[in-house]
Amino acid sequence: MKKVIIGLVLLLVASSLFFTREAFSDVLQESYTSIKEVVVGKIAFSKEQDREQVTKKVDAPETQTAGDQAEVVEPEDMKPVIDPNNPFLILVNKEVGVLDENYVPPHLTVPDVAFSTSTSERKNMVKEAADALEKLFAQASSDGIELHAQSGYRSYGTQVTLFESYVRANGEEEANTFSAKPGQSEHQTGLTMDVTSASVDNQLVQEFGETVEGKWIAEHAADFGFIIRYPQGKEDITGYMYEPWHIRYVGAEHAKYITEHGLTLEEYLGVVEK
Ligand code: DAL
Ligand code: ZN
Repeated sequence: MKKVIIGLVLLLVASSLFFTREAFSDVLQESYTSIKEVVVGKIAFSKEQDREQVTKKVDAPETQTAGDQAEVVEPEDMKPVIDPNNPFLILVNKEVGVLDENYVPPHLTVPDVAFSTSTSERKNMVKEAADALEKLFAQASSDGIELHAQSGYRSYGTQVTLFESYVRANGEEEANTFSAKPGQSEHQTGLTMDVTSASVDNQLVQEFGETVEGKWIAEHAADFGFIIRYPQGKEDITGYMYEPWHIRYVGAEHAKYITEHGLTLEEYLGVVEK
């Protein structure tokens, strides 16, 4: 009888251990899947894949002849370039980067900085970028520089409305030199903020680059992980006019390298022909 009881107890302990392990592994698996979907799944594509697509797209018009099967990449097939190990290096642009209309970045939060906008959606940034922006603004303030944050995260839908209004006012070709088409805006990544100052009436204008505030940004942004995403003289590579106000979070190590070497994100990620 004693043996039977001991046997039953052992059986009970063994089975509870087995089920606990199973349950734990399910939880782990579930959170791994959801992290992967949020951070990587919807936007991740290997650099190699995308470089190949860029090359094909660039080469296609010149190399294509009758009967040639050269593949032209349609906009809806284009995906942003992202290093799955570093989602902050995501490349969104006209050539390779189109975000899904349902893509909303994870962990959006409003940084504790001075804003020159009352639109609540645009105050948001991805948590890490928001933290970095707070540090940048705090340092600027202690250096006697007063900055205002104007436009951060913008949803796909917001970009539709914005781009359409610019097209009505300027025509599509001109609009697309300063405003991204829906799905092609870095603002949808939550890693970007347009920054301005009272000295240019809080406008997003190129003169901002000549102000003390604009110069301070150009000199110090990289220390906090930001780059001037659309620099002067690189319009052919970025596809957009000079925007001294548009800063993009990539992390301090990358930002310092990119800034010190006068690169664009496209050049840094190696997706343009030198
Ligand atoms: N002004 C930048 C290009 C944007 O619309 O995302
Ligand atoms: Zn911008």
